[in-house]
Amino acid sequence: MQESINQSLKPITTEINDNQNLEIGGCDLVELAQKYSTPLYVLDEATLRGICQNYKQAFSSYEKVNMMYASKALCTMATSAILSSEGFGFDVVSGGEIYTVYKAGVDMSKVLFNGNNKSVDEIKLALDLGVGRFSVDNFLELSLLNEIAKSENKIANILLRITPGIECHTHEYIQTGHLDSKFGFDLTQVDEAVSLILDEYKNLNLHGLHAHIGSQIFETQVYHDEIEILVKELSRLDEKFGLKLDEINIGGGLGVKYTEKDLPPSAFEIADVIIKSLNASVEKYGIEPPTLFIEPGRSIISTSGVTLYTLGSSKQVPKGKKYVAVDGGMSDNPRPSMYQAEYSAQIANKPLDENIETVTIAGRFCESGDILIKDISLPQIEEGDILCVYNTGAYNYSMASNYNRVQKPQMVLVNNSQSDIIVNRETLDDLVAKDVIPDRLK
Ligand code: LLP
Repeated sequence: MQESINQSLKPITTEINDNQNLEIGGCDLVELAQKYSTPLYVLDEATLRGICQNYKQAFSSYEKVNMMYASKALCTMATSAILSSEGFGFDVVSGGEIYTVYKAGVDMSKVLFNGNNKSVDEIKLALDLGVGRFSVDNFLELSLLNEIAKSENKIANILLRITPGIECHTHEYIQTGHLDSKFGFDLTQVDEAVSLILDEYKNLNLHGLHAHIGSQIFETQVYHDEIEILVKELSRLDEKFGLKLDEINIGGGLGVKYTEKDLPPSAFEIADVIIKSLNASVEKYGIEPPTLFIEPGRSIISTSGVTLYTLGSSKQVPKGKKYVAVDGGMSDNPRPSMYQAEYSAQIANKPLDENIETVTIAGRFCESGDILIKDISLPQIEEGDILCVYNTGAYNYSMASNYNRVQKPQMVLVNNSQSDIIVNRETLDDLVAKDVIPDRLK
């Protein structure tokens, strides 16, 4: 089966240039580090657009597909504009994400609002800005959304988020579709929710069902199982309530290649399983083919991103490990300390040098657990070398913090030898901008 970009460790434009440095998007990474300073998030536009095209091609044989991008993986105005230009809609989970895509000029009817505890203010913002779908997660939200929509004389178009009871083999914290989950209606609660919508909640218009089974998924069978459950449920609701629901949203989840050990399926393999399962289940349960929503996040954005760091101090533990510290760490990439996530890296100014030592890359934050990469094999390293960590496009900037009051890095977009800032580095003044000293302390 055809390969897709989520199976690549590096951005597709990664090369070694005439300076014998790594380059991405035609930009020398050492020059980028000098120009913008480090840590620096670098995003390759060609890789991002390439995976969007992979997805569109992979699903082209199913007529009714809505590609949504899960903004939680990385949400900035520039990336939203790119994804929108590729024809993607957006899965958003907060007022902040709604506002970001809105400011980026996204067609709000292509936005779907997810989340297990949406606030009144967020629901109002979503209704005011004309968000296309709400994926309703629980009974409280059903009643709240109906009430707010009624008070504004609007109809909210909704999907019901269900918990399909599927376990994926991924990290416990990023599994969401198993039965003991904080997300969605249990299958035993669906009838009650549907009855309430039909009988009482007149300002809600139910279009279909939504599920999400987990993240960094390498199996394909789980999608088959998920689709079978969703389609069976559509057919059951038709029989029981005479409801012709015509949308299913199967969430995201396709994995990426963080290290050589990772072998995720391609977007083409996943699409093949999804479309075949959908066609087979539709036939089996005798319903009209529904519109399919998919909402991948990580597999869209991860591979296009790398992070550049400058190597600083190092410590050789007598008879133990050698630690080399970088100028960032758990605040710009919390994934290693949160999920024991593994990453691959190269020295951008020495890509051709032979690997001669095994070191552990430590972050600069005041916590022993702030280790970015354990036991990586690298060339002879020196202070000032530029480390390029691959596959940091997803869930890095979006989960970054100001731990230790360190400013978040800036992000540049590279393409055709051009680099443009898409997120400015925070300044020291940004860090204190929201602080207030009450008068009585002055
Ligand atoms: N749709 C829903 C409803 C989701 O909850 C998620 C992710 C996605 C789509 C996108 O899933 P993806 O295609 O990115 O796997 N912070 C964790 C990942 C948490 C994912 C949560 N939900 C990490 O860094 O691995």
